[in-house]
Parts: sequence; C-alpha cells; structure tokens
Amino acid sequence: MAELMVGLGERSYPIIIEKGYLAKVGQDLKMRQVGNRYCIIADDRVADLYGRTLLQGLTDAGVKAELITFPQGEANKTLATVAALASKLARLGFDRKDAIIALGGGVSGDIAGFVASSYMRGIPFVQIPTTLLAQVDSSVGGKTGVDLPEGKNLVGAFYQPKVVYIDIDVLQTLPAEELLGGLAEVIKYGVIRDRDFFEFLRKNRVAILQLDSDCISKMICTCCEIKAQVVSEDEREGDVRRILNYGHTIGHAVEGASDYSIIHGLAVSIGMVAAAKLAVLNNLLTEGAAQQIVQILEDYNMPVTVPVGLDRERIKQYLLADKKTISGVVFFVLPTAIGKVIVTDDVGSEQIDKVLNSTATASS
Ligand code: NAD
Ligand code: GLY
Repeated sequence: MAELMVGLGERSYPIIIEKGYLAKVGQDLKMRQVGNRYCIIADDRVADLYGRTLLQGLTDAGVKAELITFPQGEANKTLATVAALASKLARLGFDRKDAIIALGGGVSGDIAGFVASSYMRGIPFVQIPTTLLAQVDSSVGGKTGVDLPEGKNLVGAFYQPKVVYIDIDVLQTLPAEELLGGLAEVIKYGVIRDRDFFEFLRKNRVAILQLDSDCISKMICTCCEIKAQVVSEDEREGDVRRILNYGHTIGHAVEGASDYSIIHGLAVSIGMVAAAKLAVLNNLLTEGAAQQIVQILEDYNMPVTVPVGLDRERIKQYLLADKKTISGVVFFVLPTAIGKVIVTDDVGSEQIDKVLNSTATASS
C-alpha cells in the first residue's frame, strides 16, 4: 500500500493506493469517520460494475450508506444532474454530518464533488476514482464542477476531498480507449516535471499497457506525487498549477471542434505535440526533445496530429473561448526540455496556424 499526502494545511488529505482496496474502504472510513452516513454517487455503468462491492464493504464494516446514480457520459455533467442528485440527498434525509463518496471517472468526481461543495452549503466528500484519468488527475486537487451549453466546466468550485482511495484493479474493466486517454495525462507529468518518469514510461510501455500491477502502482503513485506537489504549491491555479494544462490549450479546442468525438486524453496528446512544436518554433526546445515527445505518444498509439477533416477555424474559435484565455490572450504551456515547461502568451497566430496544419515530425 502506498499513502501520499496532499499538503494543504488543515485541508490536507491522504491518497491511498492499493490493489483490491475497494472492498476495504469501509474499514478505513469506519476509522476516519468522515461522515455519519455516506451517499455513494456513481454513473449507472460504474454503479453496475463496482457499486455492490463498495456498498457491501461499507455494510460489513458497520458504515451506513446509500447508492444513487445518474446516466453515464459528459453530456450529463450538467446543473440538471446536480439538482436531481441534491434532491435525492434531501429526500434521503442527508444532513451536514453526512458525507458523499464520488465513485467513478472524472465525470462522477466532478459532479459529486460539486454536489458536496454546495449541498447544505458544503458537506465532506471522498473520491474513489475508477478511470486512469481520474486516478492520476481529476480526483486530486479539488477542482469540481459541471458544464454549461456555452462551454465545459464553466460552473464549479475548488473543494477538496477528505481522502482519495485508488484501487488499481478497477482498471481491468476500463475500455482500451479510456486507458489510452488516461495514459496521455500520465505522459504529460513526465514532460512537465520529471525526466526520469518520462524514461520509465518509455521503457515500461509493454508492461504498462498490459496493466502490470507493479508498473501501474508506481506510475499512479508518481503522477499523484507530482499533482499533489503542484496543488500544494498553488491550489487555485494562480501560477504554478497552470503547468498541468500542458497540451490542454489546443487539446481542449480540438476536443470541442470534434464535437467531443475525440476523447479528452487523446485530444491532449495532439495538444502536447502541438505545444512541443510551438516551443521549437520559438527556439525554446530542441527538435530532438520535441521528437522524443512525438515518439513516446506514437509508441503508445496515440494521435499526434490534428485530423485532416477537422475545421482549423473552428479550433481557433474554441481557443478564444477557452477558460484559460484571458481578454483574448491565449496562454500556452510550452516545454523547454523533457521535465521542464514555461507558461507564455507570446505565441503568434501564424505559428498556431502552422502547428495546426503540420504533420507528425517535430520540425515540420
Ligand atoms: P468518465 O467519468 O465519463 O468515464 C469514462 C467512461 O468510463 C464512462 O462511461 C464510465 O462509466 C466508464 N468507467 C469508469 N470507470 C470504469 C471502469 N473501471 N471500468 C469500466 N468503465 C468505467 O470520464 P473520465 O475520462 O474519467 O473523466 C473525464 C472528465 O473529467 C471530464 O468531464 C473532464 O472535464 C474531467 N476532468 C476533471 C479534472 C479535475 O481536476 N477535476 C481533471 C481532468 C479531467
Ligand atoms: N487537471 C488540471 C488541474 O487539476 O489543475
């Protein structure tokens, strides 16, 4: 078992990573007493797969719990879903001494976390992430919220969980594309902060793709360590936390312009290559280092160029509408070496055009 801390003073919390831990969460919560009673919030698919195991473990430990669900998918990450879940909590008589358990991927975590932040002006919550993306990113750091028709994650709150439980066994049922999407975020950590980790991901690709337990545990641990460190330094994304958005500026725009047919992580893969190319064009990164970024993503079978059929003008419209764009100025996280990045707004629109239209090689 590995246990890390997200250091945020009185709001610090542990991340517990262990194989097969889902059934043991009840015993741990009995000891921690985060709430008198727990409401597990999961999407319908995750509830079918893992709801019973979690509930049984809680019941066996003498912890009172209910399970409520919402329909899976980003399209349901809405205020309407928040309202429906909050009404269910009220009808079940949940009060301020009770707590929420977010069980599932980033969609469940973001919704359940936001419900926790606002129900009765805030009740405690626990994260049990079940996608790789959620285990290495969204369950740690306290960003919660929902989408509006006008854009993604436009309503939300910074609200930290009391504890994060990561059971790597649940990754066995994850669809291959979702695993790959999570791995793009994993590679991101190597590029932004840790050259050795980047090498580890390069060398252990086969074992990682086969979900070798030791490799996956080490990998998730390293990602959570980096994320915890960054969040401890800058909880509210004033400065340092922006580095976590490497690949996300163009990635989000590609995701939106594809009407979300390209999943988030794979759009981030395209975005990471685009940012590496922008760094080369600005003499911040060597072509060799950019090529290493392209190569690792290609080796993992991730997309590295914007699909030919995707409207470039639409991508640029999304860039301007992004939350990270301030007063029309688009911010980019650009690598300066493997393991180091800077945040800059000093990127010309002709350079953006060039990378959106370029092919797979780093120098093109
Ligand atoms: P998701 O939660 O929709 O999960 C993807 C699919 O996998 C869903 O259909 C889900 O039912 C299914 N699933 C989940 N766990 C499974 C398992 N173990 N086995 C089989 N199927 C499983 O999507 P996601 O990719 O986890 O998260 C994406 C969301 O996360 C986006 O809304 C994004 O905005 C958000 N996000 C938030 C943060 C943050 O810091 N809060 C960071 C990154 C992304
Ligand atoms: N996923 C980016 C962040 O948590 O800041």
